[in-house]
Amino acid sequence: MRYRRFPMSRTLLILKPDAVERGLVGELLSRIERKGLHLVAAELRVITQDVASRHYEEHAGKPFYAELVRFITRSAALVAVVEGPAETWKIVRTLMGATNPAEAEPGTIRGDLASSLTENLVHGSDSQGSAEREIALFFPELASL
Ligand code: RTP
Ligand code: MG
Repeated sequence: MRYRRFPMSRTLLILKPDAVERGLVGELLSRIERKGLHLVAAELRVITQDVASRHYEEHAGKPFYAELVRFITRSAALVAVVEGPAETWKIVRTLMGATNPAEAEPGTIRGDLASSLTENLVHGSDSQGSAEREIALFFPELASL
């Protein structure tokens, strides 16, 4: 059994449809694993309208909302739960880079590999509370663990 550091925490990671379409799943998961984080669940699935609207409910009513939901549901995404030390959500967000690829630093996923604000390859929970809510939404079987 691998050595476990404590306390552990989990976050939700989505490799968005553009990542799957562009064949970048291996590259992106490799970055997560090379950082020392571990997958505890992963599934390729087409996100439904219902789940997408609940996932992005904080953005309902914003000008980019319709495009965001259309994009995240257009083809299969790789939805995953990532585990690591405390504040793993923050580690993943740092690997992702800024939301807008025009502002994302080189060395980050969006800085190196994305050029579109909508098609920016990855989602990562933005707080521990968001991580718990989003894991329960996408992987209800893990929510009580
Ligand atoms: P995500 O939720 O997808 O991980 O992205 P994020 O936290 O970095 O950014 P967030 O503010 O939650 O926005 C969700 C997604 O909406 C698109 N967006 N467009 N036109 C705009 O001003 C705008 N702002 C955000 C982006 O595709 C972003 O990933
Ligand atoms: Mg967000």
